[in-house]
Amino acid sequence: MALRTDHTAQPCAHRGAILHFRSDPGAHDAPGSFEFLEDGLLVTRDGRIAAVGPAHELLPNLPADLEVVGHGDSILMPGFVDTHIHYPQTDVIGSGGRQLLDWLQDYTFPAERRFSDPVYAREVAEVFLDELVRNGTTTAMVFCTVHRASVDAFFQSAAARRMRMVAGKILMDRNSPEYLRDSVPSGEQDSRELLNKWHGHERLSYAITPRSAITSSEAQLESAGQLAKEFPDALIQTHVAENLEEIAWVRQLFPQARSYLDVYDSYGLLRERAIYAHCIHLDQADRARMAESGASAAFCSCSNLYLGSGLFDIAAADAAGMQFSIATDVGGGNSFSMLRTLGDAYKVSQLSRQHLSPLRAFYLATLGGARALGLDGQVGRFAVGAEADFIVLNLRATPLIARRTAQSRTLAEKLLVLMTLGDDRVVSRTYVLGREVSVA
Ligand code: GUN
Ligand code: ZN
Repeated sequence: MALRTDHTAQPCAHRGAILHFRSDPGAHDAPGSFEFLEDGLLVTRDGRIAAVGPAHELLPNLPADLEVVGHGDSILMPGFVDTHIHYPQTDVIGSGGRQLLDWLQDYTFPAERRFSDPVYAREVAEVFLDELVRNGTTTAMVFCTVHRASVDAFFQSAAARRMRMVAGKILMDRNSPEYLRDSVPSGEQDSRELLNKWHGHERLSYAITPRSAITSSEAQLESAGQLAKEFPDALIQTHVAENLEEIAWVRQLFPQARSYLDVYDSYGLLRERAIYAHCIHLDQADRARMAESGASAAFCSCSNLYLGSGLFDIAAADAAGMQFSIATDVGGGNSFSMLRTLGDAYKVSQLSRQHLSPLRAFYLATLGGARALGLDGQVGRFAVGAEADFIVLNLRATPLIARRTAQSRTLAEKLLVLMTLGDDRVVSRTYVLGREVSVA
């Protein structure tokens, strides 16, 4: 790992194009939902946003000796927020040609087995966080494995980099290899201890993490619901309605439940700051219940295409008022890049004869994700006092991107080029708390 820390947490101004969001632009790019400054200035101090505005307005009032970093016509925006990703699946990326259940059995469970070893877990956590930084993702909601050591390793690495991260230990006591199972008491005890140790420590938050309704017994789901009551402030993360065979299995296991989502609901696991990955095969009653409870969906476009799971229905989510954000779901997803994930989301919407506007896409990848995690007071937008996690997107990262952006007439056209042709090459710099942390 090679970290460049050229810019310290000293007051510093960054000049370039600036894009950030105030609210969801929705299907029709609602006016006032975003701010775009062609020649803007972002001033940071002590790791926070001190000012943002047009360069010609702010520059005359700044101290003469303040360092101004020029980013040309690159776009500065808040760091990406990836609301569903598995760090132990870093080495599973690109394995497959299978649908979910076989993929889990053949590749994922064996890979997760190695995370009982804290040294190995720490090594992978470092590689994983390097990849996030390289791709401009400054906050993520992360699955660890069933092992406590995997959680400690991840949070230690994130804390050392001062990154804002959410993570949790998987609860899994059935329908998985013996070597990856916990038990109801051990899962609950480990989760409680990890919550007390890490939740609210520096920039870290804990998520109660039952892997799925297939891999947790009724008693364990009950215990997860108890933990959620005991820690009303904790986040919750799990998977739902991803794959048709998976859903049929849930139906067999829970014949009394109205739907897969209803299983979680019956254990008190639907609430604000609960993130449900996938939500592809929901019905209208499920979506209405998601909206009512304040829980939100993570739309994992890359993963849904890679594992052939299905097409997330944006229009149905909107019609129900169901909140959603965007996530890579590495290693089901085949890229750490939120830009590529947005590009795939665009293609999913096309296949459904729907429309995902580029502005909305970038909202989902920044403020939308922060809102889903209840972290929008801290990250995801350039509000004065917010934490200065931001990225610089280079409109000339490749000859083709340079050529296409030169021909783009509007901001939306430029953004569409970035999300359909771009990847980590576009992210020229990543800043955490005002400090550059780009990976060499
Ligand atoms: N469902 C249960 N576990 C997993 C997982 O690790 N990845 C995905 N995509 N779906 C799951
Ligand atoms: Zn997942």
